[in-house]
Amino acid sequence: MLTLANAKAPIIGSLVAVLISFNLTTPKWASGAGISAPNEPFDSRGASENEAPTVTSAAKNGASRFNTFLFGAAYYPEQWPESYWEPDAHRMRECGVNVVRIGEFAWGLMEPEEGKYDFSLFDRAIAILASHGIKVIFGTPTAAPPKWLTHKYPETLLVYGDRRVADDQSRRHVCLNSPVYRDLSRKIVRALVSHFKDNPNIVGWQIDNEINCEVSVCYSNSCQASFRKWLNAKYGTLESLNERWGNRFWSQWYTGWDQVNLPFPTPAWHNPAMMLDYKRFISDSATSFVEEQTEILRKYRPGDFITSNGVFKNINYFNFTRGFDIYAIDNYPCFIDEPQYPTGAGLTSVRGFMGRMMVMEQQTGPAGQTYMLRSPRPGEMNLWAFQTIAHGADGVLHFRWRGARRGAEEYWFGVLDQDDVPRWRYQEYKKEGREISKIGKEILGSTVESDIAVIKDYDDEWVYDHQYFTREVNIGAEFVNLFQAASEQKYNVDFVGTGANFNRYKIIFGPSMILMDPVLSGKIKNFVEQGGTFIISAHSAVKDRDNAMTDQTLPILVSDLFGVEINYFNCYQPPSREKNSIDFSDGVAAPINVWADVLKPKGAAVIGTWDRDYLKGAPACTENKVGRGKAVYYGSFFNLDSARLLLRRFAADQNLKPLLGGIPEKVEVTRRTKDNANYYFILNHSSESVTVAPGLGFYDMLEGKPAPESISLKAFEYRVLKK
Ligand code: GAL
Repeated sequence: MLTLANAKAPIIGSLVAVLISFNLTTPKWASGAGISAPNEPFDSRGASENEAPTVTSAAKNGASRFNTFLFGAAYYPEQWPESYWEPDAHRMRECGVNVVRIGEFAWGLMEPEEGKYDFSLFDRAIAILASHGIKVIFGTPTAAPPKWLTHKYPETLLVYGDRRVADDQSRRHVCLNSPVYRDLSRKIVRALVSHFKDNPNIVGWQIDNEINCEVSVCYSNSCQASFRKWLNAKYGTLESLNERWGNRFWSQWYTGWDQVNLPFPTPAWHNPAMMLDYKRFISDSATSFVEEQTEILRKYRPGDFITSNGVFKNINYFNFTRGFDIYAIDNYPCFIDEPQYPTGAGLTSVRGFMGRMMVMEQQTGPAGQTYMLRSPRPGEMNLWAFQTIAHGADGVLHFRWRGARRGAEEYWFGVLDQDDVPRWRYQEYKKEGREISKIGKEILGSTVESDIAVIKDYDDEWVYDHQYFTREVNIGAEFVNLFQAASEQKYNVDFVGTGANFNRYKIIFGPSMILMDPVLSGKIKNFVEQGGTFIISAHSAVKDRDNAMTDQTLPILVSDLFGVEINYFNCYQPPSREKNSIDFSDGVAAPINVWADVLKPKGAAVIGTWDRDYLKGAPACTENKVGRGKAVYYGSFFNLDSARLLLRRFAADQNLKPLLGGIPEKVEVTRRTKDNANYYFILNHSSESVTVAPGLGFYDMLEGKPAPESISLKAFEYRVLKK
């Protein structure tokens, strides 16, 4: 059994990393029903027509700063003989590639000695790519520092909580707060971008690579000093810090700033206020690290787009992305045996950071390092790429063009195998390029518009990282459950930050909103008064933004709005199957096995009661009419059953209409919209054929003709219908 916590968990990162463990021994799909064997004759049809991108600073509707849908791969020319480059570019073009990402781990080549720069390999590689109409997204190389750097400046190395210094034989072994590392990073980025400042073949920049992947905490002296500085800037005085952290508890009163430590290991538990600030500090450190690079890149290449990639722990991506033009997900569905809903939730999450996204690394083949994930089945690679587009991606780059022959990732396969022979994955990739050429230009910049939103508040997630209660309490799971419920019922859904405009939505779910503040409670109230339905889950509005309990009765600041008080609660310990359930007034029930809030209505109507135990008959779910809307308090966490039935009930109440009719439950549908056109993505995630019947009046963009009333989709097949 391998868990996402000990395997590398790129895409889903903080969202689902704690959620799923998966068994690698008996893949469920082993029978392969309905799928053709991966040995079809090589497809020799001609090149796709994905036009090379150029950057437009005032792109239509502001969605993207490039003028065409991006299709490509991660390419590492430095890992191959130069004689490979020309045939590589030729084949790429044949597949419809219009952009590749290069350079993100090549610092050692670019600066072989301190202050001596050499970008000639990339000059030559870019020229060859350009001669085939392929542009470049350049990765700044700061995720893989050269040996001379870590040996000459060992203070740049990351330090673990037990004060062991990380060794430098891999990647990401650096401290983002080391002033020396920051300085050397700025220098290499400046040298790189000034060298390429007039090169017309670069369109974008990826800053670093997957910041906080592998490890997201550091206990170096630099981090210690930066943490004190960060706290000083936040609290002003030590007295204020002592007060707000509640340091009278356990004699933790600081009498000098030099006593303020990072949360090193201790015999008993750390202060939750400190732990939350520590996470905010880590996030701010990562953000300022990328902002320094953004500033340099913008100075030399103001027209290019800037991004970074991946989702990992301890980063608030609403802040982290604020200087970027687009954010990029690294999408590896094979970390999960059945990835449809967790991957959809991950894509929804990334789209929510900035409202626009692309894929920098899309899983292509079998994938492993010391471990091995399940391999994509024939057709799944294309399906998953189209799932990203369905959720708003304006570009898809696969990882990687060809599998590496040496090094830590020999088992991470690409479009081409290590022997350079094009096999069925190449064929699938080429098909994808052709299909993207049919939809890309039109789809580019279209948006996923939703009536339903889920509030994502990093503070809440970080509170639960520390005070996790039981292993069954899991905010990440609530997001996946809500996503799955919306997807099954054929609605688009957004995950948004607390800063979003709530009034764009009709229904908002607030999962485990443990921290509440007056601004947020005011926004929720306004949303409800204007006609929205706000459904909050258990143990919400318990503490203030200091992560401290207050003198108010729960739920703090929203008790009047929801028309309830919390009488008491029960946390079930695992194994906790079938501990209780909530019976709803309309005859449906949701099993509950994690948490039970017992509510005391003060004006709200009771719509669900506890079913068992000493809680039997006590109020479990309430609905309060306020203004033109409803504030619903749901006394447990959103498991899949409750997500389904609450959505069904309140979507009917709000008169929401599914995106399309005639689509079986497990077939995914999303809608992107641009100007007056709607683009429906219909994706069959199963290994069986299905029939969908969306009705007449649609144009099938992949087939290039009007769609029939009902369509049969083979295993892993998809359609893009326009209306
Ligand atoms: C990503 C990472 C790549 C490569 C890939 C496969 O998370 O950005 O550099 O490591 O995973 O492991």
